[in-house]
Amino acid sequence: MSIGLIEAHGKQLVNRVLDGPQRQDLFEKAHALPRITLSTRNIADVQCIATGIYSPLEGFVNEAEYTSIVNDMRLSNGLAWSIPVTLQIPADEADKCRLDSQIALAHPNGDILAVMTVESKFTPDQDHEAQKVYLTTEDAHPGVKAMKAEGPVYLGGPISLVNTIPYDNFLDYRLSPVQTRLEFANREWKTVVAFQTRNPIHRAHEYITKTALETVDGLFINPLVGMTKSDDIPADVRVKCYETIMRLYYPEDRTLLGVFPAAMRYAGPREAIMHAIARQNYGCTHFIVGRDHAGVGDYYGTYDAQKLFDEFNADELKIQPVKFEHAFYCTRTKGMATAKTSPSAKEERIHLSGTKVRTMLREGKCPPPEFSRPEIAQILVDSMQSPELTTA
Ligand code: ADX
Repeated sequence: MSIGLIEAHGKQLVNRVLDGPQRQDLFEKAHALPRITLSTRNIADVQCIATGIYSPLEGFVNEAEYTSIVNDMRLSNGLAWSIPVTLQIPADEADKCRLDSQIALAHPNGDILAVMTVESKFTPDQDHEAQKVYLTTEDAHPGVKAMKAEGPVYLGGPISLVNTIPYDNFLDYRLSPVQTRLEFANREWKTVVAFQTRNPIHRAHEYITKTALETVDGLFINPLVGMTKSDDIPADVRVKCYETIMRLYYPEDRTLLGVFPAAMRYAGPREAIMHAIARQNYGCTHFIVGRDHAGVGDYYGTYDAQKLFDEFNADELKIQPVKFEHAFYCTRTKGMATAKTSPSAKEERIHLSGTKVRTMLREGKCPPPEFSRPEIAQILVDSMQSPELTTA
C-alpha cells in the first residue's frame, strides 16, 4: 500500500492484521498451539509490527537480522534499523517453541492476540547488545534493565494479529499509519513534521514544534504512550496536557494528535533513528530531533542523536531530521530561543528540564510561565494527587 507522498520504510506498508474467515480460522487453531504470554513491551511491539508502524518488519527479528541490527544498525537488505525488536522468553519455556512451527502469543489476561511462526531461536550475548545499542551494560540504565528482564532466549519470525489488542485508553488517538496517511492526504499536507515526546509539552517543545511547522504543511504530535520509567509523567496526565495545549495554543487545521504505542527504550541516538523510521511509516516527511533525544541520565552527548542521522544516506533512511539546539527562555528578548537565535548571555537564559519540573511538582511548586503554559502547569499540579507521581 502506498498512500501519501513519502513511501513506507522499505517501500510497502506492512499489514499483519488478519480479518474475515482467515482471522477466525487461525484464531481457533491458535488455542491448540504452545502459548507464550507477552510482556507489556511485547504487546506494544505486536501492535507496531502488525499495523505497519515498524515496516518493513513483519515479525520479531530473527538471528540474522538481530546480528545485523546490533552490529551495523541496518537490516540485512541495507535499510536503516537501529534497535532489534525482540521476543524474549525464559529458558524453561524455550523447549515448547519448536523451529518452523507456530506458537500463540497471548495477553496476560489469557486472550490470544497473535500467531507467530518460529523461524529462529537463539541466545545472544545481552551485554554485547547492551553495549552496542545502549552504549552501556549498566543495569542502572532503564533500557538495559528492561531488555535483560525480558528473558535470555530470543524467538524470531513473522506474526499475524488474530485479535484486537484490548487497549482501554486514548482510543481516539490510536491511529494506524493507514489512518494518518489518509488524514494527511485529506488535509492536503504534502510535508509533515513529526514530534516525539514522553513529556508534557513545555515551552521549549512548543517553540521547536512551531518553528518546524513554519517550514512544512502540518505537524503530527505523536507522544509515546507505551511503557516509560516510573518517574516519567504518566501518559494519561500527558494526554490531558496535549489536548489542552493543542486546543489553546496550536492551530487546529495544521496540527494532528496521535499516540505512539511503543515502549520507551531510552537508547538515545539509536532510538532517535527508530523513532524517525516509525514516523516515516506514519507518512511524515520530517522528524524533530532536539537536545538529548530519547536520552536518560548522562549516557549520551547532547547532540549525539542528531549526529547519528548523518551516518545514513537517502537510500537507507528517507525521512529528514529537523535538528534543534537546546531551547531556553531568554529574559533579554522575552521569548524562547536557542544559542543560534539569541544574543543573550548565559545568565539571561532560563533552562528548565523535565527532571527539574518533576522535582518542583513533588515539592508542591507550580512550574513557572517561562517553562510551562499556566493551563498545563495546573494540570500537572492537579495530577500530583496521582500515586505514580508522588511516589517516584
Ligand atoms: S524524548 O525522550 O521523547 O526525546 P522529550 O519529551 O524530553 O524526550 O523530548 C522530545 C523532543 O524534544 C526530543 O526531540 C528532544 O530532543 C526535544 N527537546 C526537549 N527539550 C528540548 C529543549 N529544551 N531544547 C531543544 N529540544 C528539546
